Amino acid sequence: MSGPITDAVTARLAAVGADAVPQDLYSGTGADFYERLVGPDRAEIREMLALARATDGAILDIAAGSGRLTVPLVRSGRRVTAIDLSDDMLSHLRRRLPGHGMLECVVADMRDFSLRERFALVIIGATSITLLDDAERPLLYAAVRRHLAPGGVFAFTVAGGAAAASLAVPRDQEIAVPGPDGDETYLFSQQVQDDGAARIVNWVRACDLVRGAAVTVLTSRLRLLDRHVLARELVDAGFAEPTITPVRTDRPDDILLLRTTGAGSPGVTDADARQ
Ligand SMILES: C[S@@+](CC[C@H](N)C(=O)[O-])C[C@H]1O[C@@H](n2cnc3c(N)ncnc32)[C@H](O)[C@@H]1O
Repeated sequence: MSGPITDAVTARLAAVGADAVPQDLYSGTGADFYERLVGPDRAEIREMLALARATDGAILDIAAGSGRLTVPLVRSGRRVTAIDLSDDMLSHLRRRLPGHGMLECVVADMRDFSLRERFALVIIGATSITLLDDAERPLLYAAVRRHLAPGGVFAFTVAGGAAAASLAVPRDQEIAVPGPDGDETYLFSQQVQDDGAARIVNWVRACDLVRGAAVTVLTSRLRLLDRHVLARELVDAGFAEPTITPVRTDRPDDILLLRTTGAGSPGVTDADARQ
């Protein structure tokens, strides 16, 4: 495999003489697809709302996307700044809460952003920290530290348990995704890089695979990270040793919540995050 297309998708395209048109999963038609795929997912919302209740002040939702976590936080009465690299993703969020006075959407890169205020709570949901490689995560940590109010809490999720193990093996399967006129079948393809550091994921609509076509292949590259690596990085970046708790899902430990504060800050307790 070279580039953003997996070997399995390359082979499927070759079999019908079609060409790949790579498209980032979070922009253009990718943003619409992601919203259809993940929009209804309620995972992590309960935990993020509990963290919000345990803190007092504005919230920063990093890589907020279409606002899966932002919207419930705003609806709970909190002021939220949502940043994301993709204006297409943020457009979905703006449409969900048009003109809402407690929401600010900012197109910004989590590796380097500069906002006017400091935040009581900074979150990154949906394991989006894995979008960043080893050299990029320290940039994120530094940016978060610059934006954290004294005593503020930084919390993010990462895969754990069986879910983490399943990310590290190749997978090719058909998945039904809700579409405007009922479910559509997509090919999901996951391939692990030769160095084992990251996985490439592709999504291709099955009915697009026709002879000679130019076929949109939605792509993303995600690092394979575990809680121990991330915990060590946080401490190296000047945060306190994180507390790690499971997010409530059908399968315990599939998603883990890491939360920390600037070193020496009181932050929140385990009980706060579970409420
Ligand atoms: C998996 S989605 C998560 C969306 C949302 N937080 C959720 O829980 O569903 C990842 C998001 O990260 C955004 N993203 C990717 N790279 C980014 C970067 N360098 N800075 C900010 N956002 C980024 C994408 O545009 C996308 O909206």
